[in-house]
Amino acid sequence: MSDARTPLIAGNWKMNLDHLQAIAFVQKLAWTLKDANHDFDDVEVAVFPPFTDLRSVQTLIQADRLELKFGGQDVSTHALGAFTGEISGHFLKQLDCSYVIVGHSERRYRHVESDETIAAKAKAARDSGLVPLICVGETAKDLERHEPSAVPASQLRGALIDFKPGDEFVVAYEPVWAIGAGAAATPDQAQNVASVLRRVVAQMIDEETAAKTRILYGGSVKPDNIVGIMKCPDVDGVLVGGASLDVETFASIVRYKKHATF
Ligand code: 13P
Repeated sequence: MSDARTPLIAGNWKMNLDHLQAIAFVQKLAWTLKDANHDFDDVEVAVFPPFTDLRSVQTLIQADRLELKFGGQDVSTHALGAFTGEISGHFLKQLDCSYVIVGHSERRYRHVESDETIAAKAKAARDSGLVPLICVGETAKDLERHEPSAVPASQLRGALIDFKPGDEFVVAYEPVWAIGAGAAATPDQAQNVASVLRRVVAQMIDEETAAKTRILYGGSVKPDNIVGIMKCPDVDGVLVGGASLDVETFASIVRYKKHATF
């Protein structure tokens, strides 16, 4: 992490926690972080619940004036119309979402989303006033054929095709082989790819945008590996899956600065 960028600790709930569980979770997370005097300006915190939870989460966050941010896990490439099952960026923005995840590997591989689709989703998110959180990452098979940054860098180039100086977006480097695996990438591995991704942003857009853009790491992040990851100069936060579903564990990741000096 760098002092120039506010760290972002994000929890991707995937298809977990219904809207009642979401309310209980967010309340408990807010109390836990309040008790710990967490400074949200120092370390930003966001959760990504399923679509059906978003209205409940929004209502609670507004009513209790919580500083937590939230976003959707996916967005349609379209703005409106006959697209059964799709959710537009406008709908997410109307629910006060700040962010939306695009290009998660579970969508790239299980739902066969191409780089073109992900570019269109990132653009649709930006055009709706949301900050896209663009996920990239290589599979174990990719690693056998290419150097580690090759596939993530190519995915990021594809996603940023319509982006220009001043656009805000977040990049999440999530090696597919580390997701749900129990073992994260090493800090060196995360830093090497993150620094290449920052260069891609500089080449595709400009140096100023590259210096401002937050690059997260995701894949088996836990309280016991967060410090090493956050010490990487080009890693500005984490996208947490499994460990974001337990309040104490997620709060411990959010409070990583308590475990070490930075
Ligand atoms: P895990 O933290 O469960 O490995 O998941 C990472 C992830 O996919 C976050 O988007």
